[in-house]
Amino acid sequence: MTTDDRTPAEIAGRIAELREAIAYHNRRYYQLDDPEISDAEYDRLLAELIRLEEAYPHLKTPDSPSQRVGAAPLEKFSPFTHLTPMLSLANAFSEEEIREFDDRLRRLVAVEGPITYVAEPKLDGLAVNLLYEGGVLTAAATRGDGTVGEEITQNVRTVPSVPLRLKDADAASRKPPDRVEVRGEIIMELAAFKGLNQRRLRDGEPPFANPRNAAAGSLRQLDPRITARRPLTFFAYAVGFCAPDTFATHWEVLSRLSAWGFSVHPLAERVEGIEGCVAYYRRVMERRAELEHEIDGVVLKVDRLDLQEALGAVSRSPRWAVACKFPASQETTVIEDIRIQVGRTGTLTPVAVMRPVRVGGVTVSRASLHNQDEIDRKDIRIGDTVIVQRAGDVIPEVVKVVTARRTGAERPFRMPDHCPECGSTVVRLPGEAAHRCINLTCPAQVKERILHFASRGGMDIEGLGDKLVSQLVDKGLVKDLADLYRLTHPQLASLERMADKSAANLLAALEASRRRPFEKFIYALGIRHVGETTARALAAAFPSLEALAAAKEEELTALRDIGPEVAGSIVGFFSEPANLRTLAALKDAGVEPLYTAPSPDRGAGSLAGRSFVFTGTLASMTRSEARRAVTERGGTWSETVTKNTDYVVAGEAPGSKLKKAKDLGIPVLTEEDFLALVK
Ligand code: IVH
Repeated sequence: MTTDDRTPAEIAGRIAELREAIAYHNRRYYQLDDPEISDAEYDRLLAELIRLEEAYPHLKTPDSPSQRVGAAPLEKFSPFTHLTPMLSLANAFSEEEIREFDDRLRRLVAVEGPITYVAEPKLDGLAVNLLYEGGVLTAAATRGDGTVGEEITQNVRTVPSVPLRLKDADAASRKPPDRVEVRGEIIMELAAFKGLNQRRLRDGEPPFANPRNAAAGSLRQLDPRITARRPLTFFAYAVGFCAPDTFATHWEVLSRLSAWGFSVHPLAERVEGIEGCVAYYRRVMERRAELEHEIDGVVLKVDRLDLQEALGAVSRSPRWAVACKFPASQETTVIEDIRIQVGRTGTLTPVAVMRPVRVGGVTVSRASLHNQDEIDRKDIRIGDTVIVQRAGDVIPEVVKVVTARRTGAERPFRMPDHCPECGSTVVRLPGEAAHRCINLTCPAQVKERILHFASRGGMDIEGLGDKLVSQLVDKGLVKDLADLYRLTHPQLASLERMADKSAANLLAALEASRRRPFEKFIYALGIRHVGETTARALAAAFPSLEALAAAKEEELTALRDIGPEVAGSIVGFFSEPANLRTLAALKDAGVEPLYTAPSPDRGAGSLAGRSFVFTGTLASMTRSEARRAVTERGGTWSETVTKNTDYVVAGEAPGSKLKKAKDLGIPVLTEEDFLALVK
């Protein structure tokens, strides 16, 4: 079809249709991560739009989706002068300093009663300034030195939550202002950040250290097509220059921003008085880990704009606002040594011994480095200055090496050939990341096995802690689990930190632990990959320890949630003569599991243990019906494809999940295949 055949009205109509379709598919792709059409189809729509816009330039508009993608790479960024400077914020690091901020304000302006503030999370991303002229986005820039930033308009246009045109649909149905600068933060959500880093690792590219770097790195791309593929989000929190509109309060600014179509942070609140702000600070700090993105504090702003004006600014920070920082959850420190810890299954784990540093309010001095591959990937050496963080706000982890601080005296680390605890050979099995000590009687392994056996979730032997277990093993009193039950009162009472009473208590605890529920007993054995949940599933599926010990891999994988790796580990455990000897010795010592009658509904469904992911549209049923068909048969489903996914069911117009399944080599079923399975 040549465009010449069409009337101008038809062409304008087609352009509108294409814009609408592209905007819809952008949302499915970038925001919902659930595309309905293939990349090729999308490219065709976009190419058609661009062709029409090139042929009819008068129909081209700055808010066309053609402007979000596909712009040519730049040579370099141009300087951009903000209409009004972008200020920075003074910091407060404690509740006391937050109160001092309010005291300071009261000395400067006469206010009766409490001051009204707007409290907002302090987003950890990249500050940007968006210029809208006549309601249309005409420029976007980084903060730069506050006066002049870098123009990154093409890149910012690719961010789905940045409106290309302001909505004028607010309550007063006012038109958008002639010129307005909208300020806010571009961030990368944590899930998107993790996904991006996984893809980068898979493609052999270095991962980003944190979401802020990822967001900043994505925006400072000369090629906007790269930015377009990065999952970025914009939150608006202020206006700079604005004419002819005026506002009376900051709260009003935020509500206008959201009427214009911006995302304003849902936790922003109007708060009366500084004590309310302190409470807000505590509340948001507690909820920090639940958020989908990183924040590094809260920002308090005086609500009344006339008060803001009266207060003014000192150097580059306004007097009317303050950033109340949370204790940092990333810090730098030095790796002084890397030591080896031997686990109960013989795994050698390298652990970084670090100069103690406070991270997120807790002193950290050790962090697991997981395995040699991980050390190599991050190129961690002894003596390195590193960034540590508390992931998920608990476990400390080494994020990356600050290579700029290297002196040349750093020493690379190699896993030892011999176990540092018992001197036995260390092996690395094919396909495994871990190095292992092969000596089952390695004292370090024995200690860990005993501690696990005695733990709460296992045989629950009170009083059998770290120090005591070390003494028992080092003195040769306990070489195997069953030896615990042969300990005598004089033996125990002679140990360090043990007296008559504590020895008697321990013997009583041991006695009580001879009969524990089957599931606890299974867990206590410390079979690799068998945690409490799996132990429970095994106890429910097998009538006795003998039956479990005789189970074949197929019988195990038929159970829900047990994959080949776990099944292999269970079969391996029960085929190891040393383990069979331990079980027999435990039985001799009168330690036997307590069996409960198996529940009648234990029959696993036909899809038990199988996990499904659906993509595209199914012709004969809805997605929720398909999911129900899976769960009713004992299977599970998920939104995302991982290496643990068993099947991907691809309907009409499948999305990126199909590609991922192919990349990971996961079987792809057609709708017919799936129907045959659930018949
Ligand atoms: S207001 C004059 N509000 O913090 C006030 N800033 O050190 C200008 N930031 O460059 C900023 N969240 O990148 C404001 N809710 C928020 C913020 C916020 C993060 C950043 C912004 C700014 C820096 C100030």
